[in-house]
This record gives sequence, structure tokens and C-alpha cells, in this order.
Amino acid sequence: MKFFVDTADTDAIRELNELGMVDGVTTNPSLIMKSGRDIKEVTKEICDMIPGPVSAETVATDADGMIAEGLELKKIADNIAIKVPLTWAGLKACKALTDQGHMVNVTLCFSPNQALLAAKAGATFISPFVGRLDDINLDGMDLIADIREIYDNYGFETQILAASIRSANHMTKAAKIGADVATAPPDVIRKMAAHPLTDKGLDAFLKDWASTGQKIL
Ligand code: E4P
Repeated sequence: MKFFVDTADTDAIRELNELGMVDGVTTNPSLIMKSGRDIKEVTKEICDMIPGPVSAETVATDADGMIAEGLELKKIADNIAIKVPLTWAGLKACKALTDQGHMVNVTLCFSPNQALLAAKAGATFISPFVGRLDDINLDGMDLIADIREIYDNYGFETQILAASIRSANHMTKAAKIGADVATAPPDVIRKMAAHPLTDKGLDAFLKDWASTGQKIL
């Protein structure tokens, strides 16, 4: 499973990238707001650091507007994936932009039918939002599993990008189902390393080691 980092915080991206944890980056208007930076400037900095796909989201609500904004964002770098919402206009923009050879990430997906339409429109990535479904007492992982089944039934090449990931447990489940990519905030990726038995075991080893009085260096 590929890891994308869901942030516009360049320091956090750099730290994870140095560990080989970053296959791509996703941003959205809320994450750009949170960064407090200019969209083109921060996105360029991310694209210079990460060779994989970097999603930059359009904000127009009509297809022509999304296409125009997408082409403008694409000028930032070759590895931009243009992000459009899963509306009818977004599907039109997706088709037009993928026909021109651009990577498109169709976002705000909440149903298998929406995912099916995005694949038909040629999306490079479909972004089903797991956490936001969990927020309304549904099971977001069911959606990932449904889309996996449907795409596999027909050999759609659109990559399932599990989004709105809120916990390390979400990462495990997305990986077990076979999501192609998961995009997670940096702290979720860090939490994947944590286990109380690791901490407990290490404490015991260090205590025993200290009692030997030995040194390795
Ligand atoms: C993904 O592309 C989205 O930007 C993101 O995963 C949304 O996550 P949230 O629901 O935690 O805001």
C-alpha cells in the first residue's frame, strides 16, 4: 500500500520523507488554510520535495471552472494530481482532464456508485472518506471494501485512495482490504509505530542491560 501524507505542513512531510514513508501528498482547501501559506507557493515546495503525486484541489463548482483551475494548478509541477469533487461537474472535469493526460483525484466520495462513476470518467484516484462516514455512525471501511470489490470485478485501473483516515487502526484495515493508497495525517503515520509491549519490553531490556555494567561502544 502506498502512503500519501494528508497535510500541507512541509516540515512534517520532510521528516516522514526522510524515513521513506511518503509516496505522495494530498492537500485540500482546509489544509491550505491551516498551513497559512499561499497555495501555489506551498504546493511547489511540496512538489520539489516529493516526486510522487501531489494532489491540489480546485474550488470552482462548474466543470469549466474546475478545468481552468486544474490546468493552472498543473503548471506548478508535473507531479500535480488535480483534485475535483465528486459532483456531476467534477466528473465532467475529470473526464476532460484525464483525456488530456493529467492525473485526477476525485475527492469527497461517500458511496460505491460515486466511485463507479469516477472510474468510468477515468479518474486516476478515487478518494473515499472513511472518517467522515464513521463520524455519522456508518462504517467507512465498508465503503473501501465495496469499491475494492467493484473495481476488481471489472478491472478498473482507478486507484483507491483511502482518505479521511483518522487512526492507525484505519491504516491496518485499509491495507487488509487492499486499498491502493492511504492518505493519513503525519501523526497517524507516527502512531503506527507505537505499541505498549514494545515500550515495556524495551524498558525491561534496558534495565537488565544496565545491571550487567557492560557497554557496546
Ligand atoms: C483527503 O484527500 C482529504 O483531504 C482528507 O483525507 C480529509 O480528511 P478529514 O475528513 O479528516 O478532514
